[in-house]
Amino acid sequence: MLEQIKKTASFILAEAAKIGGSDFGTPEVGIILGTGLGGLVGSIDISASIDYKDIPDFPVSTVEGHSGRLIFGLLGGRRVVAMQGRFHYYEGYEPWQVVFPVRVMKFLGVRTLFVSNASGGINPTFRTGDIMVITDHINLIPNPLVGPNIAELGPRFPDMHGCYDPHLREIAAQVAAAEGIELKYGVYVGGTGPTFETQAEYRYFGAIGGDTAGMSTTPEVIAARHMGIPVFGASIITNVGLSDEAGDHEDVQKQGAAAEKKMTTLFTEIIKRL
Ligand code: HPA
Repeated sequence: MLEQIKKTASFILAEAAKIGGSDFGTPEVGIILGTGLGGLVGSIDISASIDYKDIPDFPVSTVEGHSGRLIFGLLGGRRVVAMQGRFHYYEGYEPWQVVFPVRVMKFLGVRTLFVSNASGGINPTFRTGDIMVITDHINLIPNPLVGPNIAELGPRFPDMHGCYDPHLREIAAQVAAAEGIELKYGVYVGGTGPTFETQAEYRYFGAIGGDTAGMSTTPEVIAARHMGIPVFGASIITNVGLSDEAGDHEDVQKQGAAAEKKMTTLFTEIIKRL
C-alpha cells in the first residue's frame, strides 16, 4: 500500500511538472472540493490539471455533479492541489480507496488539508444555506485505518483531539468577521448513506451529539490526522433534517451552488492567512 501511495504521488508530480513547466511547484495546501466549493476552481491560478482516469491506481468518481480531476495552482498566494470530485463509501469503494488520494497528497507535499461538504441540519438553530465550521465529528462510516497500520504514515492509535484544527478555526472566525460571513459551528456526523436519514435517525444523530448529518469527510479527516496533517472543514446546510421536506440530491446541489460565493471567500481568505 505504501509503495502504491508513493508511486502514485511520484507519477502525479512528474505529470504536473510536465504540464505546468516552470509554473509548477509542489503544493503545500490540499483541498477537497465537496458540494459548495466547486466555484473555488475559478479562483485558482491553474498550472496543471490531471484527470483521475489518467492516474494509475486512482479510483474514478461516479456520482452526479462530481467530476474527477486533480488541479494544481496558486490560490491566495499559496501552492495548492485541489481534488475536484471525491470518493464516497456509498459508491462502493473500500474505506482505504476513499482515503487513498489524501494519503497521496501527503507525498505531494501537502501540510494542511481543507475539506467541504453538504449536510443536513439537525441543530434546531440551523437553516438551509448556513455554513457550519466543523468543530468535531462522529464517524459512523467504517474506519479507513482498520487493518495493518502503516507506521510510516502514522501511529497505530492516532489521537483525535483537535482533529479540526483550533488555530485554523480561529483564522476562519477572523475571516468571517472581516468579510461579513455568518458562521455556525458544530459536530458533523458522517454516516454511510446513500439514504438520507429517517426522522428517527436525525433525532438519533442529534441525541448522540451531532449538529449535522452527511455522507463523507470523516474518513478523509481520519486519514489526514493519522498522518499529522491539520484539517479545516466547513459544511453547507443544504436541508433541514427534521422538517417535512424530503431531502433530495438536486436541492443539495442547488443550495450548494447558492452558498458557493461565501464558501469560496472563506476558504481563499483562510489560505491567504496561513
Ligand atoms: N443527510 C446526509 N447527507 C446529506 C444530507 C442529509 O440530510 N444533506 C446533504 N448531505
